[in-house]
Amino acid sequence: MAAKKLIKNGIIVTASDQYEADILIDGETISSIGLNLSSADAEVIDAKGCYIFPGAIDPHTHLDMPFGGTVTKDDFESGTMAAAFGGTTSIIDFCLTEKGRPLKDAIKTWHEKSKDKAVIDYSFHLMIGEMNETVMKELPQVIEKEGITSFKVFMAYKNVFQADDATLFHTLKAAKDLGALVMVHAENGDVIDYLTKEALENGNTDPIYHALTRPPEVEGEATGRAAQLTSLADSQLYVVHVSCAEAVEKIAEARNKGVEIWGETCPQYLALDKSYLEKPNFEGAKYVWSPPLRDKWHQEVLWNALKSGQLQTLGSDQCSFDFEGQKTLGKGDFTKIPNGGPMIEDRVSILFSEGVKKGRISINQFVDIVSTRVAKLFGMFPKKGTISVGADADIVIFDPNHERVISATTHHMAVDYNAFEGMKITGEPVSVLVRGDFVVRDKQFVGKAGSGQYIKRNRYGAASQLKQNETLSI
Ligand code: URP
Ligand code: ZN
Ligand code: ZN
Ligand code: ZN
Repeated sequence: MAAKKLIKNGIIVTASDQYEADILIDGETISSIGLNLSSADAEVIDAKGCYIFPGAIDPHTHLDMPFGGTVTKDDFESGTMAAAFGGTTSIIDFCLTEKGRPLKDAIKTWHEKSKDKAVIDYSFHLMIGEMNETVMKELPQVIEKEGITSFKVFMAYKNVFQADDATLFHTLKAAKDLGALVMVHAENGDVIDYLTKEALENGNTDPIYHALTRPPEVEGEATGRAAQLTSLADSQLYVVHVSCAEAVEKIAEARNKGVEIWGETCPQYLALDKSYLEKPNFEGAKYVWSPPLRDKWHQEVLWNALKSGQLQTLGSDQCSFDFEGQKTLGKGDFTKIPNGGPMIEDRVSILFSEGVKKGRISINQFVDIVSTRVAKLFGMFPKKGTISVGADADIVIFDPNHERVISATTHHMAVDYNAFEGMKITGEPVSVLVRGDFVVRDKQFVGKAGSGQYIKRNRYGAASQLKQNETLSI
């Protein structure tokens, strides 16, 4: 049990407020918030000059995941440690399933991967690759016993993860009845397959062809299709890793018609662009993930969508592979480059630096995007995602003026490169607490593998916090 702690002199920022107050932590939760608090037996932590944010929640990670003939470099230990350095106190990782095998086997595998490893709290989304009587029978148990209330359907990665439209539609119907949120990777896998084969036939094998064979239209089309199917099923949808104007347009169009659809983007789409795939010496492979990076002008569309509330969250899509030995598997054939990048550590700081500091979003929107909205959508609020009495003491003490340069030489992820290498950012977590215990203290790791707890989540909408087409006051 964590000792009592009293955080003084910081400025608390939530999705709606910003004020100066002290926070008393008793055990794992916040027991009091107020001016001039005192406690004889609490350790006092001075947060002068810092913001106090609720711990960030990353809704999109792939740790220790087999993919593209290899396995992601960061596992639940290195991945969650890096997340903690970045101010993230909970993650939701994607549990992959296999057709014809019980869902519970896949969940067991994911529990084995994470047990005794995670240094922050964690939960799972469940991939749905097929829909039939057996799967339908298992789903209520997945929700009740495991607290997994979000299902992921891939519309891309033909012959690997891709599900057909019937599966997506059936999943949407089931989710509506069961109180779950359906998530989609929205790219048209069949068209990508066609374009990829065509590129290879023409001898086009360099990393840039990864982007050229997955143009924005295939993301826009799949997003629009998923939105229409959601409307037809009268269900709810969360579109992961939105990268382009075409997809934002489809989400906005559906939301304006009253469809319950939410959109997530990622720091890589806000800060990097397609030209990175053309780096010499095969270095473009470092930037191969799906959807691909886009032409630079798309960034402004994504920022505006975050600001206006048409996109609501930021996931890292952490899916890290070393350049040497993993990304290089695709030398001479871009389709063999494992898809994904290392983003878990810098997600929050990039949004703060590029978003808040540059005046693109407000500080309350920032908190909403990296924490509160995620907690609400994925059934974790108000235990997670805010600073209030009774909530878990998941807290980030954040120095808003600290300047640093992102680099693989100083990051805490296990991979040999950082996609944001050389980027100057302002603002950095100084100390991070998970359920009242320091995991990072004065920028030093003080956590413990296995201290992270599995989070059983509530059903979609259970917190009654989801207002359709809600936009934020700025
Ligand atoms: O390229 C990516 N994004 N890899 C991770 C799997 C996925 O599609 O999210
Ligand atoms: Zn995806
Ligand atoms: Zn992903
Ligand atoms: Zn500093």
